[in-house]
Amino acid sequence: MTDTADLLDAGERLGLDELRALQLERLRATLRHAYENVPFYRESFDKAGIHPEDCQSLADLARFPFTVKSDLRENYPYGMFAVPRERIRRLHASSGTTGLPTVVGYTEGDLSLWADLVARSIRAAGGRPGDVVHVAYGYGLFTGGLGAHYGAERLGCTVVPASGGMTARQVRLIQDLEPRVIMVTPSYMLTLLDEFERQGVDPRSTSLRVGIFGAEPWTEEMRREIEERFAIDAVDIYGLSEVIGPGVAQECAETKDGLHVWEDHFYPEVVDPVTGEVLPEGEPGELVFTSLTKEAMPIVRYRTRDLTRLLPGTARAFRRMEKITGRSDDMVILRGVNVFPTQFEEIVLRTPGVAPHFQLRLTREGRLDALTVRAESRPGATPEVREAAARSIAAAAKDGIGVSVSVEIVEPESLERSVGKIRRIVDLRPR
Ligand code: DLL
Repeated sequence: MTDTADLLDAGERLGLDELRALQLERLRATLRHAYENVPFYRESFDKAGIHPEDCQSLADLARFPFTVKSDLRENYPYGMFAVPRERIRRLHASSGTTGLPTVVGYTEGDLSLWADLVARSIRAAGGRPGDVVHVAYGYGLFTGGLGAHYGAERLGCTVVPASGGMTARQVRLIQDLEPRVIMVTPSYMLTLLDEFERQGVDPRSTSLRVGIFGAEPWTEEMRREIEERFAIDAVDIYGLSEVIGPGVAQECAETKDGLHVWEDHFYPEVVDPVTGEVLPEGEPGELVFTSLTKEAMPIVRYRTRDLTRLLPGTARAFRRMEKITGRSDDMVILRGVNVFPTQFEEIVLRTPGVAPHFQLRLTREGRLDALTVRAESRPGATPEVREAAARSIAAAAKDGIGVSVSVEIVEPESLERSVGKIRRIVDLRPR
């Protein structure tokens, strides 16, 4: 056996038949737990005329109703919990752009499971016990910081709880404490890159070898940029607070071919975003999750709004999800064409003379929406290079995506930098 195979835990070693049997058993227990302890689920199952005992196979899950973000908001703050509040050891919340935040809760058992799964994720990414892990995801109500933190400790690493912000100090800490692993959003990694260069430190010269990036969509072009500029391996970690936090799915260092869903604890489906119909493996659609072992807040068929497709396992038996293309709420419909920020990330990062920093500005011209791509020039790019870059971005948008856009090449360091999740779309359309 290879070194990596020796490191797999019991769940990762399950054969497919064993995995499917375990999932069914856990799914049935979760449906019962939700139905018996959460009035919301009892009502929604009753209304749909379905009972937990009707779930006789994994395919039967499709007969159960979906859960959506507004269901969590309507049951704010504690209504989705399936255990008495006294058994909840921790709360997290997502800020939400409108109205009430959503609150999620964890029992002691849930926190332990979460740490195990993040530890598994870090190991799959190439982290090992004894590594120093720099955590630059935000600490606080966001699940990124604390989720990464306890997972790294569980794996047996030395954790630097840097959180987001104070970028100059982060660069100093990385030089002094010599982490091998960094966990951070890809957009904040680029902010760190600028700061290394500002301080005159070669980003390739650091002790960092593994970057575990997530919490926002990022592309293969971004992977290449980060890997080359830092001389590290960059892998993708996925998760969402409603399901547990980071550590729902993870890309393996040895294959870098999409994210293995930790299916022994979370059951994935991909559905047609309009009809809700379950799609076969390989078809793109909206990702839906059902938790299989969570105690405090079991979640049944949660619509993530994240768009991807499911693929068979490679480095692990668990199915993979392709890198997320975007969220249905980040999709812009421009003169009938569906457009995602990741499509522009691919184009901007391939264009010579521009830095990997860009923003998409939406305005309205008469009755039609218009999009302006604002991309930053690389320092020292001549006016000719900038003009060529603008033309090339516009042409790539026309040929590759099928939309006409305006392009502005702006001064170096003029666009807002990320300290956590980046906001790509600036919507200036009149309401
Ligand atoms: O972002 C949890 C997390 C923290 C994941 C750190 C990875 C690393 P939320 O704040 O609830 O939780 O936001 C969840 O972020 O539905 C996706 O839209 C997006 N997202 C998370 N990971 C990825 C990823 C955390 N790897 C929402 N690729 C999700 C693309 C991601 N989008």
